Amino acid sequence: MYNFTIPSQLKAWIDRILVAGKTFKYDANGPQGLAGNKRVIVAISRGGYYGAGTPAASMEHLETYLRGVFAFIGITSPEFIIADGIQVGPEHREKALAGALQAATSLRAA
Ligand SMILES: Cc1cc2nc3c(=O)[nH]c(=O)nc-3n(C[C@H](O)[C@H](O)[C@H](O)COP(=O)(O)O)c2cc1C
Repeated sequence: MYNFTIPSQLKAWIDRILVAGKTFKYDANGPQGLAGNKRVIVAISRGGYYGAGTPAASMEHLETYLRGVFAFIGITSPEFIIADGIQVGPEHREKALAGALQAATSLRAA
């Protein structure tokens, strides 16, 4: 997370993969995703905590944005590996990284 959302490098990638006629199209029913056959795994890390009920939850525009972007192109169930609180302190960082590694290990095989 950079400044509550995605880093600009990732935004540049998104600008290249959301292409009308390739990964989405508009028809009489509105936008239709054309990339629904892809599996997407997103690993995110955040310096602080942004989960439901936290004081900063309303500033979470990273995971929510990515879920919206992928849904727009037809990927409605992206899998997220999350490490939160990595700049809060060493113990938070260790716990976050261990949890994320465990979650990554538990991903089902494609
Ligand atoms: C430019 C910049 C902006 C950041 N903004 C946030 C932020 O808004 N919220 C947050 O929790 N962490 C923020 N962080 C901390 C990063 O999310 C954290 O360091 C990141 O998980 C590690 O990624 P990196 O190795 O690319 O820095 C920021 C870090 C940088 C360098």
